[in-house]
Amino acid sequence: MKPEKIRVCLIGCGRAGMIHARNFMGGIHGAVLSAPCDPAKEMLENASEETGVNKCYTDWHEVMKDPDIDAVIVVTPTQFHHDIVIAAAESGKHVFCEKPMASDEKECDEMIEACKKNGVLLQIGFMRRFDRSFQRGKMMLDQGMIGEVTMIRSNTYGPSEPKEWMYDVHKNYGPLGEVNSHDFDSRAQMTHVMQA
Ligand SMILES: NC(=O)c1ccc[n+]([C@@H]2O[C@H](COP(=O)([O-])OP(=O)(O)OC[C@H]3O[C@@H](n4cnc5c(N)ncnc54)[C@H](O)[C@@H]3O)[C@@H](O)[C@H]2O)c1
Repeated sequence: MKPEKIRVCLIGCGRAGMIHARNFMGGIHGAVLSAPCDPAKEMLENASEETGVNKCYTDWHEVMKDPDIDAVIVVTPTQFHHDIVIAAAESGKHVFCEKPMASDEKECDEMIEACKKNGVLLQIGFMRRFDRSFQRGKMMLDQGMIGEVTMIRSNTYGPSEPKEWMYDVHKNYGPLGEVNSHDFDSRAQMTHVMQA
């Protein structure tokens, strides 16, 4: 029988993971946080305590075997996104995966393919697409209110100190991936306007 609400496991309970967890505590229509997962004991305990959710996982492989989890939110360091998303797709679980999607294009293609093949939804955490200011900018471009665009300048910053893993170029692309991937995504949205 189809559950009343989509039961979600939060994989990765660090800074961004807890933003997702707090959103659930505020109430998300049609979905419920069913379990946090994090190999770091302290992070997991904090997440469980703050959300009041007692079912916990230290290993994401175990999450994939749980029939009572319908979807996962992947908020681990970027290097793990690919393997977790593929395993979730193969276990029939829908996926929300944080940006940057993965380490390279090949990984991204494999993730998309696995989700398509297994009939699960995949969404990436590029939330600026939904910001009113960005949507208004796009509308203004589409309607020709700005005229010909020759340059977009984006001034952004991350609100927190970079984590240790973000300094390792073998594991991620530093600020380029962690912060500027938002700008690349926004630019992609505008591309057809700029090419017109
Ligand atoms: N959409 C946004 O604007 C936004 C903002 C911040 C971070 N992010 C993304 O979220 C992801 C996490 O960033 P963060 O700042 O929360 O990092 P973080 O270091 O604060 O948290 C990562 C958490 O993942 C856990 N973890 C590590 N390996 C794991 C594994 N194998 N399985 C499960 N959990 C594991 C760590 O113990 C830690 O608690 C990154 O991909 C980052 O780019 C997105």
